[in-house]
Amino acid sequence: MAQQINVLTKTLIMLEQYTPGHSRNATEFMAARSLQTHGAFISPYLQPGMKILDCGCGPGTIAAGLAEAVGSSGQVIGVDSAESQIALARNRSMANLGFEVASVYRLPFADNTFDLVFSHALFEHLANPVKGIQELLRVLRPGGIAGLCSPDWGGFILSPANPQVDNAIGSYRALQEKNGGDTLAGRKLAGWLKEGDFLVEKLEARYECYPDSKVIAEYLAIQLEKTGVMEPAAALRQWALLPSSLFAQAWVSAIGLKMEE
Ligand SMILES: C[S@@+](CC[C@H](N)C(=O)[O-])C[C@H]1O[C@@H](n2cnc3c(N)ncnc32)[C@H](O)[C@@H]1O
Repeated sequence: MAQQINVLTKTLIMLEQYTPGHSRNATEFMAARSLQTHGAFISPYLQPGMKILDCGCGPGTIAAGLAEAVGSSGQVIGVDSAESQIALARNRSMANLGFEVASVYRLPFADNTFDLVFSHALFEHLANPVKGIQELLRVLRPGGIAGLCSPDWGGFILSPANPQVDNAIGSYRALQEKNGGDTLAGRKLAGWLKEGDFLVEKLEARYECYPDSKVIAEYLAIQLEKTGVMEPAAALRQWALLPSSLFAQAWVSAIGLKMEE
């Protein structure tokens, strides 16, 4: 029975696909993020000298902020499964910041290596989030901190209301879920941390209101078009041109603690 579950888990992970892809648009979208704009929830836990892992670091802009926060006596390692993202991230030259290609399911680090593990906008794309969390727990030292953040598509605010835009959002959610992800990841982070043997220390939710809806509309429309969902993609772009359009994305962040041995 246990063997059958293992085979099923491996198959799910093999079928997993990262929905946004790594086009120039998607990469620039991620590179606009910083520790201040998207990682503020972890800032109270950062201390000089810490050794930190940023898992699913993308182009590394948040990791660079973490490296600045821990200072020259600290160290930050960013990992991402995409070589293209790690190649870009390596352009950030800071003495205490390094990057490696690796999957969250198989981290190339010894047990108890890090003081803090961080992951922003990764877990909503995983077919087996608890396996990812267990791997984070393994490389974290006892008493160490995990900070995770994911969107929750059940809480987005889009105005003015438009059925075609709702259709586009529904199509995008269906695509991400077909690829093995979970668009309600935000609300599930605490449960996944507990299943992975973490103590949940804190939960927060916030909205990111895009100053220009065209930016997020373009990012989503490109993915929809790649899979042939043309009309909803066009409707989303049109809607974003309205001066009154609001796209507010809900994010949930969770802080977990690894129990002392
Ligand atoms: C939405 S981006 C987030 C990037 C960055 N953390 C941020 O918030 O701007 C998710 C990143 O996770 C990476 N990724 C996807 N699946 C992964 C996996 N199994 N292990 C490690 N990284 C993965 C993708 O290549 C992508 O760069």
